[in-house]
Amino acid sequence: MSSTAATQPASLRSRLLTAWSLFVNYAYDYRRFRSASFIEGPRTRENRRAHIHLLAHTLEYGMSLSDPRKGFGMEKVRLLCAEMQEYISAYGRDETVELGLAVMASHIAFTASQGADTAEARRLLQPLFSAAGPVPNAALGGTEQVRATDIAKDACIDFVSFMERRNSVRQYADRQVELEKIRRAVRAAQQTPSSCNRQTCKVYAFTDKRSIARVLSHHDGNRGFGDQLGGVFVVTVDLSHWNSVGERNQGWVDGGMFAMTLALGLHAEGLGACMLNWSAPRERDKALRACIGIPDHEIVITLIGFGHLRDEFRVPVSRRKSLEMVLRHEPPLN
Ligand SMILES: Cc1cc2nc3c(=O)[nH]c(=O)nc-3n(C[C@H](O)[C@H](O)[C@H](O)COP(=O)(O)O)c2cc1C
Repeated sequence: MSSTAATQPASLRSRLLTAWSLFVNYAYDYRRFRSASFIEGPRTRENRRAHIHLLAHTLEYGMSLSDPRKGFGMEKVRLLCAEMQEYISAYGRDETVELGLAVMASHIAFTASQGADTAEARRLLQPLFSAAGPVPNAALGGTEQVRATDIAKDACIDFVSFMERRNSVRQYADRQVELEKIRRAVRAAQQTPSSCNRQTCKVYAFTDKRSIARVLSHHDGNRGFGDQLGGVFVVTVDLSHWNSVGERNQGWVDGGMFAMTLALGLHAEGLGACMLNWSAPRERDKALRACIGIPDHEIVITLIGFGHLRDEFRVPVSRRKSLEMVLRHEPPLN
């Protein structure tokens, strides 16, 4: 955890050292973002995959609007077809290709239903079908019809109570965590919204006591409970999916949101969890990456410790600020 603020003004030497250390750590992040992202065009398979996902998302987005322009999205269709052509010839058919084909097929059906001319889109799609084979299930892409009543039925939990019953847990029962619970928590986290549906998050999961101890040996902030944990997640984001300067911090946002859902997923499985900060300088970051084998194009967002709850245990009150301090309803605009 970060140290508490100094009470004396820092000396010039210490300020210079801090500035240098900040610079070196920013440079560490800069290099990784620049080399992993496709800000200068797609290079790796993951960049190309990301590009296909991004373009497919743009078409799905258009199809989900209440009144999209007739025959919208042809520019994206051309780009998507060109990218998919290259992808298929380099890597063959995989789930990214299936997604791209399904979205294209569904876009053609959609724009045809608008009365638009789909001849060009069909002509572009045909060679992709020839190269990769037809779409087995067009419903894998496009849009689907949903009903407010169905949403209300499945979303009907008292979410405030659910949240108020969650605490960071720092006392655990000595019981193995079932893989099925982990899988369900990760499935729930996969439903987290992500920027342009890029789904950049990955979870490295450890439940073996020796592995947990080795991973936690790089972490600062689990004193007094790390050895009780039944598992630890390391949540990362793949930077290969970002492609603009403005997105340089997007991975931290998407990763943080994913991590929160993951922690709530554990809570919903009846497990306890505690976020374990990854506020780590580059030396520690390098050590954890080397230990786990995290590739250079991923950033570590956070660790999450978890395990079975004891029958009874203590948690900090962690009193929340008043609602009035947080919610600014209709502040005056300038
Ligand atoms: C990103 C993040 C990192 C955290 N890191 C740690 C940590 O390293 N160790 C720890 O014991 N708690 C950690 N926490 C838990 C917070 O201390 C806790 O969420 C906060 O005090 C509020 O308490 P509650 O979660 O019980 O409501 C972290 C929380 C977040 C969101």
